[in-house]
Amino acid sequence: MRNEILNLLKKENKISNEAAEEFSNAEIEGFTNIVKELGEEKTDYIDREKIIKNFESELFKNIYVYKEVMSTNTVSKFLAEQGIENNTVVISEKQTKGRGRSGKKWESPLGGVWLSLIIRPQIDQTKASLITLATGVAVANTIRSFDIDNVEIKWPNDILIDGKKVSGILTEAIAKLNSINYIVIGVGIDVNFDNEDMSDELKELTISLSKAAGKKIEEVNVIKRFLIEFEKIFIDFEEEKYEDILKEWRKQSFSIGKYVRIKQLFGNNFDGYIIGINKEGALIVEKADGTLEKVISGEFDIIND
Ligand code: BTN
Repeated sequence: MRNEILNLLKKENKISNEAAEEFSNAEIEGFTNIVKELGEEKTDYIDREKIIKNFESELFKNIYVYKEVMSTNTVSKFLAEQGIENNTVVISEKQTKGRGRSGKKWESPLGGVWLSLIIRPQIDQTKASLITLATGVAVANTIRSFDIDNVEIKWPNDILIDGKKVSGILTEAIAKLNSINYIVIGVGIDVNFDNEDMSDELKELTISLSKAAGKKIEEVNVIKRFLIEFEKIFIDFEEEKYEDILKEWRKQSFSIGKYVRIKQLFGNNFDGYIIGINKEGALIVEKADGTLEKVISGEFDIIND
């Protein structure tokens, strides 16, 4: 049955081959039901009505909240391929197959904010990575608004409190020729669950908002604030105020000045000092021999020099 649906969608050009690859491992039938039942599912604690009550967003009018999906990014890509309207938000109380960067798994139990934005900005591909940096600034500002200090952004997209990860961003841009068809921006924020319940690997490295604030924080309030913060910075983005966004990012950077081991997605690993980010959002690193290297995609670990 799954293959039949998949073939049908492909035949009707409803989904690209690239998206189909992912969906062939997924519950296509579940997705079809999701699309049919958009907005009809009763959730437990992230109440859509509470999100839209007194909500001053001009941008985000189309908000869907689910009890459980595999991944809000995967669902969003599916919906985007189906032509869902611009500026749609997909939220889920829980994800069964949450995805992180570099193909990593993203633990997404109840008590977090797991959401994706579907946007169709009129920009060329080279600007897509700036959207991730802008989203990082929006998340950092959101967290700070709950009176939490020591919030920093680790390039390209980790948000840290006291050096521990509280949030990650997974941006997926689908382009046709040189321009962007749509972008799905997935944001995960650890809000109320106890990091002690996470895998051993993550326990020591992560923190939740409630732990940092010393009190419970309503997920709905985090969602509302984030959408408003994103909208503010997205207006700057649309007005091509890229320098303002980069300035904001640099101010909150955990990365600049650190001696690190760079792990590139396409390229060698090497050590060096982070000098800054350039106007495309790439990391600029000074190697031991004094040469500068530009890192477009990858990540880094701090090392003691
Ligand atoms: C990372 O730091 O590796 C990125 C994590 C991104 C997680 C979010 S949660 C909502 C959205 N759906 C996903 O499957 N991933 C992103």
